[in-house]
Amino acid sequence: MSSYLSDLDLSALPRHVAIVMDGNGRWAKQRGLPRTEGHCAGEEALYDVVDGAIGMGLEWLTVFAFSTENWKRPAQEVRFLMNYNRRMLWKRRDELHRRNVRIRYVGRVDWRVPRTVLKEMDYASELTSRNTGLTFTVAFNYGGRTEITDAVRRLVADHDRGRLKGERITPESISARLYHPDMPDPDLLIRTGGEMRISNFLLWQAAYSELWFTPVYWPDFNREHLFEAIRDYQKRDRRFGRVEDQ
Ligand code: IPE
Ligand code: IPE
Ligand code: MG
Repeated sequence: MSSYLSDLDLSALPRHVAIVMDGNGRWAKQRGLPRTEGHCAGEEALYDVVDGAIGMGLEWLTVFAFSTENWKRPAQEVRFLMNYNRRMLWKRRDELHRRNVRIRYVGRVDWRVPRTVLKEMDYASELTSRNTGLTFTVAFNYGGRTEITDAVRRLVADHDRGRLKGERITPESISARLYHPDMPDPDLLIRTGGEMRISNFLLWQAAYSELWFTPVYWPDFNREHLFEAIRDYQKRDRRFGRVEDQ
């Protein structure tokens, strides 16, 4: 076991870690390679992090793989990312299943996502749905605003059916209509690649997440960085609006 892991207080782990895996394109550019090579190089980083998460006994890990805004990229890169995600899943799902990982997807299921990708996602989610270890969620065709918009649509539909009065709407009414209402809010949100923004990730859920940014490009990220982020997290004082020593 790594010395870094032994530094962590395993009894005070964040329950849910979410990661914006960013910097693949710049990693490739730095090496004079096409952007798609950067995405490929990110695969190892992802599985090292998943492996580290399983090893420490993390409950929830969510990664941002493709945003609702990423459709604006060149068609060739979009196509690559679709196939790449399907292939990666196909390659790893049986191993993750054996390791008791529950695989999930979060995002909008719409016509732009190829049917073959949706099929693979359904298969992996169904296969692993009864597993009790890490819940590993891949945010794909995901956008925080879209998720909230979809929740509001459901809310309005319930209202129209007479199931919900306007004055009874609370933040919980919205939470209950998100894509996975059972997903706890992320305690720790990591973004690699140096940008200090959320880019439409988990907008509703990240209201009180601790943020951790690193300039490390995603393909260079590994479990040691994850441990470092969690160590920093464990030093923070989460007040949720309260004062200390209450
Ligand atoms: C993140 O890396 C992966 C996806 C958004 C799919 P980028 O492709 O955004 O890499 P940079 O930010 O351009 O370096
Ligand atoms: C966020 O990264 C989305 C993913 C990592 C999948 P982007 O690279 O798309 O974000 P911006 O464009 O820098 O905000
Ligand atoms: Mg980027």
